[in-house]
Amino acid sequence: MYTVPKLEDFSPASLEAATAELHGALEAEALAAVDTKTFEDFRNRWMSRKNGLLTQVNDLWLKAAPGPAKRDVGRIVNAIRQFVEVLVSNAEQQASRLALGAKLRSETIDISLPGIERPLGVRHPVLRTLDELVSVFVKMGYSIAEGPEVESDYYNFEALNFPPNHPARDTQDTLFIANQEQRAQRDRLLLRTHTSPVQIRTMEKLAPPVRVICPGKVHRNDAPDATHSPVFHQLEGLCVDTNITFGDLKGTLDHAMKSLFGSEVKTSFRPSFFPFTEPSVEVSISCPFCGGKGCRPCKQSGWIELLGAGMVDPNVFGFVDYDPKKLSGFAFGMGVERLTMMNYNVDDIQQFFYGDMRFLEQFA
Ligand code: PHE
Repeated sequence: MYTVPKLEDFSPASLEAATAELHGALEAEALAAVDTKTFEDFRNRWMSRKNGLLTQVNDLWLKAAPGPAKRDVGRIVNAIRQFVEVLVSNAEQQASRLALGAKLRSETIDISLPGIERPLGVRHPVLRTLDELVSVFVKMGYSIAEGPEVESDYYNFEALNFPPNHPARDTQDTLFIANQEQRAQRDRLLLRTHTSPVQIRTMEKLAPPVRVICPGKVHRNDAPDATHSPVFHQLEGLCVDTNITFGDLKGTLDHAMKSLFGSEVKTSFRPSFFPFTEPSVEVSISCPFCGGKGCRPCKQSGWIELLGAGMVDPNVFGFVDYDPKKLSGFAFGMGVERLTMMNYNVDDIQQFFYGDMRFLEQFA
């Protein structure tokens, strides 16, 4: 590697030869600056103030020159300094250009290679049915309300007019959260057995009039079989205003069922009981598969039971500070899995939670 020689002879010929040798070395080294590292080494080697080659030229050539030669040597050393500066600046540009080229080459992708295929997911059939139901009621001006799946005894039962120890609670097969004995009964936590607690939460939050639907997951202590599942979905509805009548309930549900199953479908209302509605009804639709003649899905009866419903019991209004003398309303609740099984001809409710791809792929 080039080193700056000590000069004995300061004649023009000797100076010219030494300068030519230095230029040759400088040009060769400049070419080798191909990235940040090699450029910095090159710059420091030549320009470092402490012991760079330029400093050495200054010391060994200029300072050592005898008096009469100083003028000429000074001019030569200045020219060398300028030449070094030009080459260093060129080398910097060259190095960054080459480094960018190398980076681009290393990041090249072959767009002709086959890509990684991610299979598209689809909505679960239960959620599809739920979406369809929701959109029917949204078109009628209902908004959507939600509530927690871990609910208190108060919202799931007490405020819905199930008194403590009332036998109607037994019909709900409740799953209770463990270790709640030290709490007051109304604060004990459970998995909500229906979406009706969202009625209470909504009326606590909103002043009347109220028109909401509450889609969501509910839980019951049922052993799973073809028609029972410990976890399923409901769609709740609540409408409260002045002068709401049973006629409004019938008209609303009749319209909703016709939107879902076709305009030929008829609805039928039979008396029933729920603690939070009075009067209460079970709503059936004429079988959309056989038109009422009798077939397998309707168990030859011509009718399919789909909903519980009724006029909001005035006692419920008492729990949420709604004035039962001024207000009336109706509520309804339906099981979404039931509807989905009918819609897609599924004969085992457990398919919805097994997570078996062969079942789910049929809906892609
Ligand atoms: N919550 C009731 C159930 O799960 C259904 C229902 C909702 C009935 C609203 C009347 C009014 O069985």
